[in-house]
Amino acid sequence: MKIVVFTGAGISAESGIQTFRGNNGLWEGYDIDEVATPEAWHKNPELVQKFYNMRRKAVLEATPNPAHQLLANLEKEYNLHIITQNVDDLHERAGSKKVLHLHGEITKARSSIDDSLIYDIKGWELKLTDTCSLGSRLRPHIVWFGEQVPMLNEAAKLANEADIFVVIGSSLQVYPAAGLVHEIKSTCQLVVIDPEIPTLRSRNRTKFIQNKATEGLPIFIEWLKNNVV
Ligand code: APR
Repeated sequence: MKIVVFTGAGISAESGIQTFRGNNGLWEGYDIDEVATPEAWHKNPELVQKFYNMRRKAVLEATPNPAHQLLANLEKEYNLHIITQNVDDLHERAGSKKVLHLHGEITKARSSIDDSLIYDIKGWELKLTDTCSLGSRLRPHIVWFGEQVPMLNEAAKLANEADIFVVIGSSLQVYPAAGLVHEIKSTCQLVVIDPEIPTLRSRNRTKFIQNKATEGLPIFIEWLKNNVV
């Protein structure tokens, strides 16, 4: 039995990391076109670098919350994979090993001329003077709006193999990531954990747990233990 957990910004909200939409969302304070597109990077790399440095600092100061920890524990008992839209490393810091990052990782930088050259960033700050081994400027290892999502096929395969697909803390508004919900088999049990249930095409085998992640996950785990051998 394979469990695939699809997480969004909501699972890191209780660690103090801002979500993107909804009250006090990150995109209320910043224009995506100014800080999260390749064009923005070419036009004003200082502003883009500053935006990601500020967010990286917040990630380094945050700690995994019980929802991250519960998922790390579940991975020890079940065949469980995480697909995350989040660029923070809180799943890994909680102990999860099988984590697929769809939108990149904020703790890493990559060469702006060779995508295969990826580096861990020491500390919170990536400087515009930091270069890759080929001498080109390092950029945040983030999938910006308008860029390809390199891990999408691998994520779609995982979703299609899932017997239980759990969405935690995503508004399901950003494609192609949100399209993964349509990759699951008709026999797959879909579970959605979110204080505001996102709009979803109705289908059988869907269970809504209208709670925050730290309260909803224990309810899911209880259901899992009572309903699934
Ligand atoms: N527990 C669970 N869910 C929560 C919590 C919480 N404590 N707090 C908020 N949420 C929910 C919100 O109700 C919302 O459904 O988390 C979701 C956050 O939605 P978004 O801010 O849109 O985040 P996400 O869906 O991850 O955004 C997807 O958009 O901007 C891009 O690349 C960025 O990966 C991001 C993508």
